[in-house]
Amino acid sequence: MGQVSVDGVPLFFRDVGQGLPVLLLHGFPLTGDSFAPQLSDPKLTSKYRFIVPDHRGFGQSALGVGPTTMARIADDALAILDHLKIGEAVVGGVSMGGYAAMALLRADPSRAKALILIDTQATADDEAGKHRREETARAVLERGMDLLVETMVPKLLSPRADATLKDAVARLIKENRREGAAAALRGMGIRPDSREILGRFGGPTLVVIGEDDQITPLPKAEEMIALIKGSALARIPNAGHLPNQEAPSTFNGVLDAFLAGIR
Ligand code: MLT
Repeated sequence: MGQVSVDGVPLFFRDVGQGLPVLLLHGFPLTGDSFAPQLSDPKLTSKYRFIVPDHRGFGQSALGVGPTTMARIADDALAILDHLKIGEAVVGGVSMGGYAAMALLRADPSRAKALILIDTQATADDEAGKHRREETARAVLERGMDLLVETMVPKLLSPRADATLKDAVARLIKENRREGAAAALRGMGIRPDSREILGRFGGPTLVVIGEDDQITPLPKAEEMIALIKGSALARIPNAGHLPNQEAPSTFNGVLDAFLAGIR
């Protein structure tokens, strides 16, 4: 794992493969290891250089002060690219990672050569959603990560997911600390609407959706497609909210086909 320090906070990232740089931002409440099916595929790593952080408060990265805003995650990712002397990268994210990818576009669109939005959404939380985030943050601080395993695994994965996959996702969730999860819940609750940001992005864009996604279902993907001129939609069968983990071979094929067209 590579390491940088941002504002005194040690942050860890994977740097795997060679070729076109591709920054991949993980979802909530996971870690960068959720991209293992991509980082372990030699067909991808022989052509693309994957930079995959653990966001602050997740995995090996330490937690900063206050809510982990999507802007903070984006700035941390840009600091990692700076550290690696990478000017422009393809920027991709799953769900919360997608919110952070949009925050990166807001901070500095010149750093994004192309965009991959996986099971995410452009809109902000409504008032009821914000309230639920705060309630969940408090409950997690009290009960720990087991609460998120119980409540989220059934929603994250397709009803067709097998026990091995459920266990793997539960293990990833349990690697995290409750304080990190609560800070990210509070950060997601205050994220701004990103529709305008997406409408302004002129680069190649791939929107991916697991067909069984219950958290950010197909209409959320279609809304982003309608906003981004020339964007392409890839529907992944037999997958819910985490298609890169649930259907890695289909997902990796779609990712490879998109990245191969980026100059
Ligand atoms: C995620 O997968 O990152 C979360 O479900 C996103 C969210 O809660 O909005």
